[in-house]
Amino acid sequence: MTQPQSMTNHFDQAAATWEEKPARLALARAVAEKIIEQIEPQKKMAALEFGCGTGLVTLAIAPHVRKIVAVDTSASMLAVLERKIRENSISNVIPRQIDLMNNESSEDRFDLIFSSMAIHHINDIPRLLTVFHALLNPGGRIALADLDAEDGGFHKDVPGVFHFGFDRDDFARQLEAVGFEGLSGTTAHVIRRESAVTGKPAEFPVFLMTGRKPEKQTKISK
Ligand SMILES: C[S@@+](CC[C@H](N)C(=O)[O-])C[C@H]1O[C@@H](n2cnc3c(N)ncnc32)[C@H](O)[C@@H]1O
Repeated sequence: MTQPQSMTNHFDQAAATWEEKPARLALARAVAEKIIEQIEPQKKMAALEFGCGTGLVTLAIAPHVRKIVAVDTSASMLAVLERKIRENSISNVIPRQIDLMNNESSEDRFDLIFSSMAIHHINDIPRLLTVFHALLNPGGRIALADLDAEDGGFHKDVPGVFHFGFDRDDFARQLEAVGFEGLSGTTAHVIRRESAVTGKPAEFPVFLMTGRKPEKQTKISK
């Protein structure tokens, strides 16, 4: 399914001021630190970030890996990343405007796929996770950050939000169902802000789920 136009417009309009919110910078920094701690990325790794936005997490991971293909559907978010790449002479980050959910894919295969706060924008989670699995080399790692299940207090009126967070156990089961193993969830950050539901201060934890594609595919016996 192609994503709703309203969501693309939302992010295109948000791009210019995306990095002005200190809370966003703090979240991206915390997620990147947790990915580095949990994955221990290596210089030989080729990585893909799904829903990279302006590249806040990608640019923190880039010094630790060989290359990152930074994927997003919003041209304006990617334009901000492209400017930062140019200004800082970064040579190992490749921005790509593709929709992995619309059969647009990279020919590459990766050792790591990571994402932060993008998966709740995808309706068909099993399909997305299947695409991730197909894009990884055997033994390839995933590091996926998103909100814990919430009541809409975080995202009530944001366009293109299909999931008010995820239950960690259920998310792990969905990853297992498409072939990932060694799944482990940990809290990467806690966002504190007013709930759009209650109008009161609230906490919204963000998890990081890690796991891997098995080295060898298990043969299904007939
Ligand atoms: C909440 S923003 C997070 C951006 C970035 N990861 C960060 O932490 O600042 C979600 C991003 O996911 C992107 N996105 C949504 N659906 C997508 C899709 N199908 N493929 C690629 N990117 C998508 C949006 O354009 C947006 O940039």
